[in-house]
Amino acid sequence: MEVIIQKDARSAAVLVAKLIVKELTAKPALVLGLATGRTMESVYGELIRLYEDEGLDFSLCRTFNLDEYVGLAPDDPHSYRHFMNVHLFDHINIDKRNTHVPNGLAGNLDRECADYERAIAECGGIDLQLLGIGTDGHIGFNEPLSALRSRTREKALTPATIIQNSKYFDSPDQMPKRGITMGVGTILESRSCILLATGADKASIVAKAVEGPITAMVSASALQLHPHCRIVVDEAAASRLQGTDYYRWIFQNEPEWAEFR
Ligand code: GLP
Repeated sequence: MEVIIQKDARSAAVLVAKLIVKELTAKPALVLGLATGRTMESVYGELIRLYEDEGLDFSLCRTFNLDEYVGLAPDDPHSYRHFMNVHLFDHINIDKRNTHVPNGLAGNLDRECADYERAIAECGGIDLQLLGIGTDGHIGFNEPLSALRSRTREKALTPATIIQNSKYFDSPDQMPKRGITMGVGTILESRSCILLATGADKASIVAKAVEGPITAMVSASALQLHPHCRIVVDEAAASRLQGTDYYRWIFQNEPEWAEFR
């Protein structure tokens, strides 16, 4: 695991976009795992800018989103499918048939989850998984006590998540209480992953996930088991970390980061 600290949320998002561009350029048919949430909006904004200004090509890219709300139709303005269309897919040259988001309206949710896992496997697995983090440590909708080997499944949301996300709905009762999410085990199988967290409200959970013990109580702590995971944070989200001198030293001195400094 490497922790990269950037001066503000904007620089952190731009760095994540550059890391994605590097992999997409090296492998145009990249299998990219995507995330939703406020934090991702500026990453997607930067990818759109790079498509418009520099011709970044998504035509062969395949994507799999982490999660979706159960009970919301793809065209519901609160669904994650809608979020992805509005914040990214509608603005770049991706083939929408190559974009996958779990179907929250599936009649048989268990089958939907098994099919989602199969579709990932048929694409050869996820090359690069993008992740945010919830204030309860969830990645995707892997709420506390999610099994560290869990696969894509339906999951009850915690009261904390319901409160955190209900601000996007007109009234809190409209907020779904369940989600479909890739499992922690699914995420750990990605070839590489990047978790982006910004803002002071993420500082405490980032410190637990990165420097605390691996525990199912903090799903993101399972990323310590991932063979190639980068955590990109701004100063505010890094403010509770203990090892910041070392993390800064790595970014300033390791050759792999030279092109990003
Ligand atoms: C939702 C998503 C998560 C995301 C989290 C953080 O709960 N299911 O995948 O990481 O929001 O959102 P934000 O970036 O808005 O803080």
